[in-house]
Amino acid sequence: MRAALLEAGGQPLVVVDDVEVAAPGPGQVRVKVAHCGLCHSDLTMMSSGAIVPVVLGHEAAGEVTDVGVGVTSVAPGDKVLLAPLAACGHCYWCVRGEVSICESAMIGLAGIFPDGSTPLSRGGAVVYRGVGVGGFGEYVVTAESGVVKLDPDTPLDVAAVIGCAVQTGVGAVLNTAKVEEGATVLVMGLGGVGISVVQGARLAGASRIIVSDPFAERRDAAARFGATDALDPTDADVVASCHELTRGIGVDYAFDAAGHPDLLGVGLAATRRGGTTVGVGVSGGAQELTISAASHVMGEKKLLGCVFGSANPHREVPRLVALWQAGRLDLEGMISERRPLDEINEGFDDMKAGKGIRTVLTL
Ligand SMILES: NC(=O)c1ccc[n+]([C@@H]2O[C@H](COP(=O)([O-])OP(=O)(O)OC[C@H]3O[C@@H](n4cnc5c(N)ncnc54)[C@H](O)[C@@H]3O)[C@@H](O)[C@H]2O)c1
Ligand SMILES: [Zn+2]
Ligand SMILES: [Zn+2]
Repeated sequence: MRAALLEAGGQPLVVVDDVEVAAPGPGQVRVKVAHCGLCHSDLTMMSSGAIVPVVLGHEAAGEVTDVGVGVTSVAPGDKVLLAPLAACGHCYWCVRGEVSICESAMIGLAGIFPDGSTPLSRGGAVVYRGVGVGGFGEYVVTAESGVVKLDPDTPLDVAAVIGCAVQTGVGAVLNTAKVEEGATVLVMGLGGVGISVVQGARLAGASRIIVSDPFAERRDAAARFGATDALDPTDADVVASCHELTRGIGVDYAFDAAGHPDLLGVGLAATRRGGTTVGVGVSGGAQELTISAASHVMGEKKLLGCVFGSANPHREVPRLVALWQAGRLDLEGMISERRPLDEINEGFDDMKAGKGIRTVLTL
């Protein structure tokens, strides 16, 4: 198949046409990818030590071509969304309902199935699959739990952006933080993930949605998705502004949707006593966050992590599609560019330049 490959030496990606993809094994599904979005996590892996060679891409949707023995929930021809991390359904975390941090799913982050194998190879050598999917290639093989069946009339480009950005951003608000009606919210970083946090905050009924991003185009876009106040962090004091905009109290919730430990510190300072900061962005390096233990404890502040919106995709994807159908979630508006696989590196250039919101590839 054709695929964009990250080889040793890093970016840019190289589009090749000789990646081999295995037939689905027992309990597995093979999907012909229609669309795959570009996420900053792919860019981070390209620049900071992904295992190679690897087919990245984890925000994808397509059509089932064939299924392995024992697969019952989908059949060839079904439209599906590819869930980035396929949960096992029976580990300690899955039985608690915390499927986003399933033990097997975490192994998927290493580009392999839980048994150590991968369905991809090239010239007899192993090729890894990025974040449990590998959507920058024409076919994906994944576990049955890694596909969510879609209604036949669901457009697959719109579905694709749910896979990572929307599920993560909206889920961070509704599942991780559980933002309540009337709450005040700060969102730092306004790419696909941050814009989805803004949309989630609007869905939750937040009274004030303060956003921050150095790119003016993205701050303007956020207003269309429900942001009430916009800050340029290179110019404004984000912490002071959040206190000013909330009568000196501080925001109820802060989200780092950019990915730098400094921003978790900004979130902790911008939130009120008892407030919640959610880390959604992921930094590539080994940066650390230092917090004052005493003020953290005495302020009763909360600092939460978030993997793919703390969601079970089998519940989350249908409800996000339903919200989109009801006109309450704008997915088309998030897709700022559609490109063929050959233009994948130009798509990442746009991401680095803060151009548009989300680029979606057509495979
Ligand atoms: N936790 C998860 O499950 C999960 C899932 C998807 C993505 N991510 C991470 O979320 C982050 C965002 O992803 P994306 O695809 O939307 O990225 P993106 O590159 O499209 O957007 C990031 C935005 O953050 C802005 N930014 C950078 N520094 C900032 C600062 N100091 N203050 C405010 N804004 C700042 C950038 O200008 C950019 O607009 C990345 O770190 C990505 O790896 C995490
Ligand atoms: Zn992602
Ligand atoms: Zn599990």
